[in-house]
Amino acid sequence: VHLFQTHMECGPPRINDKLMRFFDHCEKFLTEVEKNATALYHVEAFKTGPEMQNILKKVAATLQVPVNNLNADLIQVAFFTCSFDLAIKGVKSPWCDVFDIDDAKVLEYLNDLKQYWKRGYGYTINSRSSCTLFQDIFQHLDKAIEQKQRSQPVSSPVVLQFGHAETLLPLLSLMGYFKDKEPLTAYNYKEQMHRKFRSGHIVPYASNLMFVLYHCKNAKTPKEEFRVQMLLNEKVLPLAHSQETASLYEDLKEHYRDLLQSCRASDECELPKVNNTSDEL
Ligand SMILES: *[C@@H]1O[C@H](CO)[C@@H](O)[C@H](O)[C@H]1NC(C)=O
Ligand SMILES: *[C@@H]1O[C@H](CO)[C@@H](O)[C@H](O)[C@H]1NC(C)=O
Repeated sequence: VHLFQTHMECGPPRINDKLMRFFDHCEKFLTEVEKNATALYHVEAFKTGPEMQNILKKVAATLQVPVNNLNADLIQVAFFTCSFDLAIKGVKSPWCDVFDIDDAKVLEYLNDLKQYWKRGYGYTINSRSSCTLFQDIFQHLDKAIEQKQRSQPVSSPVVLQFGHAETLLPLLSLMGYFKDKEPLTAYNYKEQMHRKFRSGHIVPYASNLMFVLYHCKNAKTPKEEFRVQMLLNEKVLPLAHSQETASLYEDLKEHYRDLLQSCRASDECELPKVNNTSDEL
């Protein structure tokens, strides 16, 4: 899938995978995570762990098949068949009957583990690879402010950028959202019952993240100020640094100064140079 962006004034949408599918263009991410068979170790370990084994046994008993005929991947397919039908069509598939609420929570965790290690806090490169997109958003905001301050019309009053959950999760992680104190692992399902990182809540179908720039005139002083509000899935997302529902734009930029100034995807995504000297000896 190609992902595109469009500005109000400039006609047809333009595909910009480098911006919106940054993960496909990040060598370090591709090598260390995407194509790395052991990067999702916790996902694989959880599949064979006690919580999943318990579901396997229960489902095998319900379906009256030997438990050896089932595995975690088949269970996940059955669960997706149930949840996709329910979420998209509002239809309750017969596959839903083989699971109870506790099973659903375990299967939700299995999916969160994958998102955590592949798109979220599991590896730093997952989120760092999105800093070009992060900076792009601020460049649009900067430009609008500059035009406002010069009393010019804002050339792009709305910028729409379209991607997938795989684009949003790294960006939200980069900004520090939904970060738990402890990592999600194959072995702390119970401790993570009340985790913040719930991908089904963060990036449901048609998820969206909005940055709204306000031009405010302070009643007491003649000073004009710019404020930013963020909305995730049409609900106000308190700012990570203050928990407030809006922030002075300059305060937000100050909070993210390092990301805005020092994060270069070209550097972040560069693979560590392998020094072959010792091999040649
Ligand atoms: C694959 O991931 C594991 C676990 O994070 C890591 O130790 C290893 O260095 C990675 N391999 C590559 C080629 O990056
Ligand atoms: C590679 O390692 C050798 C020996 O440690 C060192 O002298 C050389 O500068 C290194 N080369 C690079 C490109 O880092």
